[in-house]
Amino acid sequence: MREDVLQVDPAEVVAAASAATRHFGGVPTRTAAESLVATLEKAALTSMLRVLQRHGVLDDPTRTYPTANVVAAARVAQRHVPLVGRWLRALADAGWISREADSYGGTPPVGSGAESAAWDAAHRQWIEGGFGGPAFLTYLRHNAECLDGLLTGDIAAAMLLFPEGRTELADAVYRDTATARFLNETIAGAVCRLGVSGAPRVLEVGAGTCATSEVVLTRAASCGIGLRYTATDVSRFFLSTGRARLPGARFAMLDFNRSPIVQGFPPRSADIIVAAGALNAARDVDAAVRGLARLLTPGGWLLVSEPTREHVEILASQAFMMDPPLDVRARTATSFLDCAQWAAVFAGAGLGLRATLPAEDHALAPLGQRLFLVQAPDTTKSTPGPAA
Ligand SMILES: C[S@@+](CC[C@H](N)C(=O)[O-])C[C@H]1O[C@@H](n2cnc3c(N)ncnc32)[C@H](O)[C@@H]1O
Repeated sequence: MREDVLQVDPAEVVAAASAATRHFGGVPTRTAAESLVATLEKAALTSMLRVLQRHGVLDDPTRTYPTANVVAAARVAQRHVPLVGRWLRALADAGWISREADSYGGTPPVGSGAESAAWDAAHRQWIEGGFGGPAFLTYLRHNAECLDGLLTGDIAAAMLLFPEGRTELADAVYRDTATARFLNETIAGAVCRLGVSGAPRVLEVGAGTCATSEVVLTRAASCGIGLRYTATDVSRFFLSTGRARLPGARFAMLDFNRSPIVQGFPPRSADIIVAAGALNAARDVDAAVRGLARLLTPGGWLLVSEPTREHVEILASQAFMMDPPLDVRARTATSFLDCAQWAAVFAGAGLGLRATLPAEDHALAPLGQRLFLVQAPDTTKSTPGPAA
């Protein structure tokens, strides 16, 4: 099998990944994407500011408020204090409040009408721009309405994404947005191109709701391509929902915060590794990618999709579920690596970055997510020795 994957020209893999978006109907326009980003950011910032102001802080333009006072007033749970620090910096960076050392200046109170109007505008642009069904925006708005309880820890963010353990909402979030469809189809295109000459061993990490696995396996089946697909996750919940959903795949537990080899995954046992929106959950992405790189066959591929900039709306929703990282993000107080930081991670693991999609000039680029097509070196080629 190793030879089959090696036989495929990397340029063809990239071309197939790009071409796969033909399965993906109309793409929103670039202008609509840029406008949506700004509107969504405004809605999220409005909700953050309003929830803090309702606790009697940041609401008087003549006063400044130390971070410690803001956190105490909103009864922020200890584990979410760094997140509120990031909210305050995001509000200051956007020019909504001023910053002096570790204190922030107040601003006139935001009313419920302004908050509601901001979310209505985001919802309208989302639907009219063709960015997906209503579920994602409804989910974000619901998180915004629950910020008080999220901050105190009385509401668990996971319950907002998986109400009563149901996955319909998460399904919509990971499948039914323009970005998710673009990334899932692009990954499927690359995997199918690699699978043409054999049945590659595909290992997916953080497979979660199997949004990506399902697209990859469906596309492969429709092209008559056999894949030996192993979907993994650290969560038993996802492994059992996945088994019911994808009988054609093998399921196994894999924690990418620990060495996969120690967990029973042999070195050089995967021709393709897929990590779709999962590696941001790694405590240390450098260590996680180095661990996955050891599983790749020579010339094997690692396909990683990730947010590649900070998303203010995530600071008011999914960030409540994220553990503090130990990698470069600890220094920069961010949730996600940017493209240059990812390139450094891949290089540090001895992998070659072959392409990043969508390109900067693509309509979906402003939405801030990318697929990295990365390849392990072909160590089977003998290097010529020194001339005698
Ligand atoms: C945002 S979801 C990925 C979405 C996924 N591609 C889907 O289709 O649903 C992140 C996934 O990473 C998993 N995860 C989190 N920490 C992990 C770890 N240390 N090792 C492996 N998987 C992990 C979560 O359980 C979750 O399924």
